[in-house]
Amino acid sequence: MKKRLLAVLACVAMTATLVVGCGGNKGDGSAEGGDNSGGDDVITVGFSQVGAESDWRTANSESMKSTFSKENGYELIFDDAQQKQENQLTAIRNFIQQEVDYIVLAPVTETGWDTVLQEAKDADIPVIIVDRMVDVSDDSLYTAWVGSNFKLEGEKAAEWLNSYAQAKGLSEVNIAHIQGTIGASAQIGRTEGLEAADKYGWNIVAQQTGEFTQAKGQEVMESMLKQYDNINVVYCENDNEAFGAIDAIEAAGKTVGPDGDILVMSFDTTNAGLTDTLSGKIICDTECNPLHGPRVEEIIKQLENGETPEKVAYVEEEMFAYDDTVKDVTVDGTKYDVTKLTQEILDGRAY
Ligand code: AHR
Repeated sequence: MKKRLLAVLACVAMTATLVVGCGGNKGDGSAEGGDNSGGDDVITVGFSQVGAESDWRTANSESMKSTFSKENGYELIFDDAQQKQENQLTAIRNFIQQEVDYIVLAPVTETGWDTVLQEAKDADIPVIIVDRMVDVSDDSLYTAWVGSNFKLEGEKAAEWLNSYAQAKGLSEVNIAHIQGTIGASAQIGRTEGLEAADKYGWNIVAQQTGEFTQAKGQEVMESMLKQYDNINVVYCENDNEAFGAIDAIEAAGKTVGPDGDILVMSFDTTNAGLTDTLSGKIICDTECNPLHGPRVEEIIKQLENGETPEKVAYVEEEMFAYDDTVKDVTVDGTKYDVTKLTQEILDGRAY
């Protein structure tokens, strides 16, 4: 990178005349080791993470931290925004001040990024968006994006429910819909996927955000159960909401599972989510893959080599179900397998 080269030259000049070391501007003290002036081949990456709201997020943070390690030649400045966009804006501005080589942003919601991304562009720092998307007026404000096709995830889940309901002869489908953080791509896409299935005549009896957390998922489910006694499906937009919903359902004296009162659907396929899928507590879990560290690194390597990475790259994802009632689903003419989960498959999973 140009900035690193300039830093090296500056350092050489200073060493020749003043015999001083090249210290870095460590900024707010959140750097994970080393300096970030980049006096050698170290690549400095500022990563603004959404927060720590879910098991998925923990796996995602671990993937980024293990990829962008000192041993691999990076200095990672990791900032946890605690699900607040204003914290992410501050973090990005700090990264710009610290003159990092790359900014990586996992945005909490899609809108509100134009100004700060323009500031990064003006500072000549490439921005890589990961996981959720940004909705900006000019897509040159970011260099590349890698993440999930959240709408496709929702559509696959809805098609699974339609096939399952038909196979089981469910005369009514009364859905409690626990949404993710409103305005996040993962919420927008999964909600669109479900709502597009209104052609099947389902009844969405209640819809409320669970903010992708277990605590809020439980709270929302408790209140929905108090208001409606006909719920037979819960569509949770991530595993942690599903854990909370299951707790609330069981506390209300109802049962979950294929032979129970309520079918719980989820997204993420984290280890804990699939453990519940193996027992049938979650009847179907649609994958959202969090292992983005190596994918972001690939983009950075391409940029370092003067190559142009793909602007938008979707990750391929699977579906897992408790049983094999539904073996595949078709969305827009493409068929996707649904795998009946086994202990062996669960044991082989990386997150
Ligand atoms: O953006 C990905 C979503 O965010 C995951 O489904 C969820 O668990 C996380 O909080």
